[in-house]
Amino acid sequence: MSQEKKNISQQKIDPHLINTTDEELLFTSLRANDWQEFLGQENIKKSLKIAIDAAKQRKEALDHLLFYGPAGLGKTTLAQLIAKEMAVNFRITSGTALSKTSDLAAILTNLEDGDILFIDEIHRLPKAVEETLYPAMEDFALDIVIGKGPSARTVRLDLAKFTLVGATTRFGLLTGPFRDRFGIIHRLEYYQPEELEKIIDVASKKLGSKIDRPARLSLAKRARGTPRIALKLLKRVRDFAQILEKEQIDSAIVEQALKIFEIDELGLDENDRRLLMALIKKHDGKAVGLKTLSASISEDAGTVEEVLEPYLMQIGFIRRTPQGRIVAKKAYQYFGIEPPKE
Ligand SMILES: Nc1ncnc2c1ncn2[C@@H]1O[C@H](COP(=O)(O)OP(=O)(O)OP(=O)(O)O)[C@@H](O)[C@H]1O
Ligand SMILES: [Mg+2]
Repeated sequence: MSQEKKNISQQKIDPHLINTTDEELLFTSLRANDWQEFLGQENIKKSLKIAIDAAKQRKEALDHLLFYGPAGLGKTTLAQLIAKEMAVNFRITSGTALSKTSDLAAILTNLEDGDILFIDEIHRLPKAVEETLYPAMEDFALDIVIGKGPSARTVRLDLAKFTLVGATTRFGLLTGPFRDRFGIIHRLEYYQPEELEKIIDVASKKLGSKIDRPARLSLAKRARGTPRIALKLLKRVRDFAQILEKEQIDSAIVEQALKIFEIDELGLDENDRRLLMALIKKHDGKAVGLKTLSASISEDAGTVEEVLEPYLMQIGFIRRTPQGRIVAKKAYQYFGIEPPKE
């Protein structure tokens, strides 16, 4: 067995693909393990349960699924919960890991009926790999070219009836034909503070730390609508309380800690403020292209577009226009700066 195949068949979760920093380990331990723990996104859960029940009744694989939306909203977690509910294997890989069609072929030929193949960052799949996926998704078939030149021929291999679950933060980058091959497509939305409060409650119990409801709410409000950020803030505040030798985390501790971490009441941090200030001061509130903006705050364009901007757009601080990014009046007000006259 090739090394590649061995790795794939051994993996439930490929250690090379998962970032095993302490932080990531913490998230793994705090990951929602069942539907009860996966809070919010009610419509998505309802629709998924119907699809899952129907597939189970027919004893068929679930339709191919695509989840999209900003980072940290639960795409990977949902995919894992589905695999658990369907009682099938969960194979995880990503668009950046599948650089060659042979990488994908090795994975596909190792799947069993019903298995879930989760491809994270699916918008990063190279074109050739994406096109190999088309017949795999539609006909559960893999077309392999054998030989080279005039004697080359294509052989079609049958694959198990698997379910592809794709996740992306950049829906717009997927081609139409690719999108069309997913039977179910869901956009994950930012969470309400009340939902994040519950998520923090569940997580704090798992961590064994006491945090009262006002403190949970105050964290929730600063978590940018994002469970991953809520959990990260909880952890940082917990560390802070521990150093202060406080048994119970209350709002005062949360306020104190977040002040030190320079996270304000909207959940904006230094990076957000630098971006907004660049638009306001360096670019005089004019439309700015992504590259120019990223360069002016020394951030890479990907981080600006996928991490910083989505939330700033959500709260109406910036807008994306064909001419570039425009900073809104609200952002001027936030800094107490007079907006330019129109
Ligand atoms: N609805 C939810 N209820 C409870 N916990 C959640 C929920 N959504 C996400 N989480 C928790 O937040 C963390 C991040 O979720 P997850 O890794 O699934 O996000 P993601 O959308 O895959 O992010 P990325 O785009 O960065 O891959 C996990 O620890 C997960 O358990
Ligand atoms: Mg993920």
